[in-house]
Amino acid sequence: MSKTITSEFRPIFWTGAGVSLIDQTRLPQEEIWLDYSDYRDVIRAIKDMEIRGAPAIGVAGAYAVAMAASEFANEADFKGSLEAASQEIRNARPTGANLAWAVDRMMASIQPSAVPGETANALSSEACRIQDEDEAANRRMGRFGADLLPQGGAVMTHCNAGALATGGFGTAIGVIRTAWDDAKVSHVYTNETRPFLQGARLTAWELVKAGIDATLLPDSAAGQLMRRGKVQAIVVGADRIAANGDVANKIGTYSLAVLAKENEVPFYVAAPTSTVDMQLATGDAIPIEERPAEEVTHIAGRQITPDGIGILNTAFDVTPNRYVTAIITENGVARHPYEDGLKQIMKRNVDQS
Ligand code: MRU
Repeated sequence: MSKTITSEFRPIFWTGAGVSLIDQTRLPQEEIWLDYSDYRDVIRAIKDMEIRGAPAIGVAGAYAVAMAASEFANEADFKGSLEAASQEIRNARPTGANLAWAVDRMMASIQPSAVPGETANALSSEACRIQDEDEAANRRMGRFGADLLPQGGAVMTHCNAGALATGGFGTAIGVIRTAWDDAKVSHVYTNETRPFLQGARLTAWELVKAGIDATLLPDSAAGQLMRRGKVQAIVVGADRIAANGDVANKIGTYSLAVLAKENEVPFYVAAPTSTVDMQLATGDAIPIEERPAEEVTHIAGRQITPDGIGILNTAFDVTPNRYVTAIITENGVARHPYEDGLKQIMKRNVDQS
């Protein structure tokens, strides 16, 4: 595990009594690690985006469940208190599938015969396993994805689907890192990702630290760059993928996917199977988070808009499956028709267990 941004970097880790996480609201100017031992602080950290990115939120949620179990270990109604806390954790942010997936996995792992102290210990081990498995999944996904990319081209990404957004290594950035190490990718374009600027602040930071040749551009410049033939593939992450392959990801992803189709640029989505929600038939049922107006009206604490203007801050959009060339997971690559492809990919989790 490493606190520097090598390929071993992780944005969060278990300290034995809680978590230490890098504050993603302060990057890239300040690299500040925050220590939390109260699960309520982790819920707030998720809501305030100190930790963000669907798989990283799942990992943080899993650690929060372990922290709640340890706090309630001496309470008469241990199970009731833990259940209530797990619901609060589960609801910290709505769009990413990984948070509910991780909390449910944690709660399902509890042995009914275990005493509270044993349960708390077992839950911290389970949360560490969730993080280890997420990083391992990303490394496998990186290999599958790098094999798909064209030789020698430039790749574009949106938002931040790097190590910061996951248990470690990254999904879309994991693919790009692997392809860069293979000398398959010659350049990376990262979009700013208004309004929270995950691309400008976080992906740019990761790419610079990794020594990958990269250029940052305003979101609105992506189409023109594709039209000029400068982008050979797009790889993004996902917050939730429906059973039919519709993809919820950071706002702006849908526009990018439509522009990619218009310009015949392959559009890849890289995500672990914990992001795939087979309970949802289509992307229309994915809950989409609305974030505070201040994220749009202010930049670095300074108001840039007139008082009185209405604000729309929809944090995610849904890209219909017809715009997605392939979905890259740790179990392999799914293509159209996604209903069948994703079913097979998900079945591999059951076959391996
Ligand atoms: O609001 P955020 O920063 O949590 O949104 C993150 C994204 O949309 C990422 O692309 C997605 O979670 C995939 S991260 C591996």
